[in-house]
Amino acid sequence: MKFSPLSRYSLSLLLALSVGACSSTTDPMPTATGGNPASATGGSPSLEGTGGAGQVEPGTGGATTGNPNQGADSLANKYADYFPIGTAIGQGHLNTVKEIISSEFNHITAENAMKAQSLQPTEGGWNFTEADAIADFARAEGMMMTGHTLLWHRQAPAWFFSGLTAENPADLETLKTRLKTHIDTVVDRYADVVDNWDVVNEAISDNGSKDYRDGSEGSDWYAMFGSADYVYWAFKYAQEALEAKEPGSSAGKLYYNDYNVNLKVDRIIALCDEVRAKGGQVDGIGLQAHVRVDWPSTAELGATIQKIVDAGYKVKISELDITLYNDYPSGTLEAAPEIEFTAEVEQTQATRYAELFELFRSYKDDITSVTFWGVSDDATWLDNEPVAGRDNYPLLFNDAHMPKAALGAIKNF
Ligand code: GLA
Repeated sequence: MKFSPLSRYSLSLLLALSVGACSSTTDPMPTATGGNPASATGGSPSLEGTGGAGQVEPGTGGATTGNPNQGADSLANKYADYFPIGTAIGQGHLNTVKEIISSEFNHITAENAMKAQSLQPTEGGWNFTEADAIADFARAEGMMMTGHTLLWHRQAPAWFFSGLTAENPADLETLKTRLKTHIDTVVDRYADVVDNWDVVNEAISDNGSKDYRDGSEGSDWYAMFGSADYVYWAFKYAQEALEAKEPGSSAGKLYYNDYNVNLKVDRIIALCDEVRAKGGQVDGIGLQAHVRVDWPSTAELGATIQKIVDAGYKVKISELDITLYNDYPSGTLEAAPEIEFTAEVEQTQATRYAELFELFRSYKDDITSVTFWGVSDDATWLDNEPVAGRDNYPLLFNDAHMPKAALGAIKNF
């Protein structure tokens, strides 16, 4: 088993979680499952699958989602009366697991291709190649997408902030113009195929004793503004861009997205309320839901969803996967040893998936989509976070692209 040195991200996450753990009144167990795979400087992880072609036969039953590749027994069709079922992909997935995507899912998120670093690595140096390939696949399949993500502190290219002085009013106008141009261009290009936008990703601190992720937690957005005002501007520009294309079309589409939402929900709602109070439009809150088999409890997630609904927001489950490891048993990283994915482990994970979907179904009027962060276990960010090179098994299909017990467990209800 290989243990890698802590990445910059893991280190800051773990420090933040250690502090947060002391002040949290909920499950104090820190979790790395909300973390991100890419380096804090914006590197995109390569998560393309390496296995052979997908091995799930296209369904043959009566199609009900309108996609001829999806039989009645497909996951998407099983949930046709509940919510779209999405998966996050890169262009490489279209070579390795295209048949699975097309037969089981009916919603798509670009894993990296629509992030600022991917789309506009230099100012005005647009690169739409991968995002276009994914969007064209979605269009051809009649699937809608999540626009992920218009503003994030990670995978945000340095040029956004280049030459600017923090909290300088004139420089802030320049930064706002750069942000608006970015949002206008992305929204304009993909509005036809995107039915919900992650307008802002991860603005809330991992440290339970403060509200916002600031410069010390890697947010140049916060550092430049000296506040979380950038969140308001991102929502305003997103709404304006959609309305400029088609009046009324922004309705229901603008989301704030974050991880460990069970720990952050009050602060997230307060932030979204503040954006609304300033006249911005926030329609819903995304729970990434990078969860563990044993944390947070399904009841705690249910209580989190209920709070969001009570506060007047829609909910989406935006990046679901279930790691098998607990690497932070007492607040600091203790990399758990690699385990074997036995039939028993597979069943435990399947039971957890079944419980989660039972919860999600009970909120079908409020949950607008459920998206898995990937397709199969051979191509998951969790093979490298927080421990590089350790096999993890978080998804519905195994390394050989065969269905796992979890797939049956969430289909049979
Ligand atoms: C976060 C981001 C995603 C992705 C995942 C892990 O949750 O929102 O884009 O980077 O981390 O892969």
